[in-house]
Amino acid sequence: MNRSLGLLTGIVVTALFLLLIGCEDENTSVKSPNQLEEEVSSEKEPTSDDTIKIGFSMDTLEEERWAKDKELFREELEALGAEVEIMVANEDAALQISQVETLISNGVDLLVVVPYYTETAAAIVEKAHLAGIKVLSYDRIIKNANIDLYVSFDNEMVGQLQAEAMTNLVPKGKYVYIGGAITDNNAILVKKGVFNILQPYIDRGDITVVYDQWTEDWNPDNAYKNMLAALEANNNQIDAVIAANDATAGGVIRALKEKGLEGKIPVAGQDADLAAAQRIVEGTQTLTIYKPIRALAKEAAERAVQLASGEDVEADRVINNGKIEVPSVLLSPIIVNQNNIDETIIEDGFHSREEVYHP
Ligand code: BGC
Repeated sequence: MNRSLGLLTGIVVTALFLLLIGCEDENTSVKSPNQLEEEVSSEKEPTSDDTIKIGFSMDTLEEERWAKDKELFREELEALGAEVEIMVANEDAALQISQVETLISNGVDLLVVVPYYTETAAAIVEKAHLAGIKVLSYDRIIKNANIDLYVSFDNEMVGQLQAEAMTNLVPKGKYVYIGGAITDNNAILVKKGVFNILQPYIDRGDITVVYDQWTEDWNPDNAYKNMLAALEANNNQIDAVIAANDATAGGVIRALKEKGLEGKIPVAGQDADLAAAQRIVEGTQTLTIYKPIRALAKEAAERAVQLASGEDVEADRVINNGKIEVPSVLLSPIIVNQNNIDETIIEDGFHSREEVYHP
């Protein structure tokens, strides 16, 4: 029984072998004129090894803006003749490190990183540098590491713009601050900008910050819970809320709605998310901070290609990340409210008029 099975297997294997040889023969020996032409012309083309390949390691796609970053950065790189491989770590520091290892072993020429956790991401930079690959920190800086370039918006200015507008509107009263994720250096910078402006008001006794919390992972549900706690601790007597982005502002507004206070307490956010733009039009959110993502993607793409080609790269300042003075490029954020929504985010095509005004 076993023997006849062995014989049968032998015959099948031999038949398959002969079939394979036959196929190979057919492929190599008979060529149409078209095939020949293709081969000759492909020899003149640059080999795929000449194409610059950028690895883009993203933290998350949770907030609406990151989908724009992903697409626009790809578009800008492709317009420059580069390729990109993108991996998203879903707010997991360990996963982000292992994805970066994959990008490195896939042969990227440069790594562009939006770090999840600004502190632990230094390991990413070390791994890349060991493999001879430079690192561009995108939107969020990586702390305590020898990063080669940082391209972002002026995040401290984001907080300053929020607080200047809010203090013009509410120069005296009880303020709530709903921060971003403490793991993200941008959240720290935005908060610094806010409190730079609030401090003189606090010192004069005009403004009291009655509640001030970070929001774990920038999660709107956490912001909602924090806002409920702030309202309950203050008998709903709150005069203004500054939230670190539009996702957390959404959580804040959900809590206000539950207490019948929606549209009655001014709220600031950041990102110009579509939902926030709609809330500004309907009057439940006071302002947002618009950061033109196309400009960020373009600046980063141009410099990424230069860095990967070993060219000199222009920066407009240096920023200390705890280890070195990092050459940096910071773009300016823009404040958006009901008065200028048309000539900012709509005119730029960030969102269409239809989407904003007729959801
Ligand atoms: C970005 C914000 C974003 C937040 C949450 C920050 O680092 O600067 O635009 O809303 O992360 O993803």
